[in-house]
Amino acid sequence: MTKLIILILLLADLVSAGDFARTMNQKNLGISKKEKLTHLRFYWQDSIKGPNPSAVLILQPVSNSTAFGSVSMMDDPLTLDVSRNSTVVGHAQGIYAGAAQGEVGYLMVMNFAFKTGKYNGSTIAVLGRNMATSKVREMPVVGGSGVFRFARGYVEAKTKLYDFKAGDATVEYNCYVLHY
Ligand SMILES: *[C@@H]1O[C@H](CO)[C@@H](O)[C@H](O)[C@H]1NC(C)=O
Ligand SMILES: *[C@@H]1O[C@H](CO)[C@@H](O)[C@H](O)[C@H]1NC(C)=O
Ligand SMILES: *[C@@H]1O[C@H](CO)[C@@H](O)[C@H](O)[C@H]1NC(C)=O
Repeated sequence: MTKLIILILLLADLVSAGDFARTMNQKNLGISKKEKLTHLRFYWQDSIKGPNPSAVLILQPVSNSTAFGSVSMMDDPLTLDVSRNSTVVGHAQGIYAGAAQGEVGYLMVMNFAFKTGKYNGSTIAVLGRNMATSKVREMPVVGGSGVFRFARGYVEAKTKLYDFKAGDATVEYNCYVLHY
């Protein structure tokens, strides 16, 4: 009986040879359990000036009042507390780009890359619209890796500190992420 089943499986394999996609049982990836909801809170530390900037301006804006057209690449520390000197739990790596003409609004494309505890090596991908002068900005979590495979959810960003002269900004991020 077992031999017959194996034979059938082998034949099925032969028939599908050359296919590049198949339906599979999600138990094989260990994701048969229910999704869980994780709340993460950390502080995004951006600095564009000084001896050790964490973000660089790649393209100058066409308007200095709205930053429209600017493109910056960041590798910003994510800290446990508001203070820049508090424990770093990961980095926000990606791009923010001035995408609004009439107001200050950014397109955010970034990965939160964590480096502590069970989250070490895992990422959360955020793609969203960030109207920097609004009190709370909501942006979608579009995916993740490692612990956050199949992630979906959203983040809420709140500016805690903005020092134009020093080129520093600290933003609180509350992330609500569904994952397995
Ligand atoms: C924006 O400001 C920078 C720095 O002061 C200046 O070099 C640039 O020409 C300005 N751009 C525009 C479009 O006014
Ligand atoms: C962080 O550390 C630097 C250098 O050690 C120090 O100059 C700065 O005052 C500290 N900032 C805060 C907010 O504690
Ligand atoms: C995180 O993972 C890296 C690469 O595997 C390892 O070198 C590092 O020690 C780990 N850090 C922590 C805090 O576990």
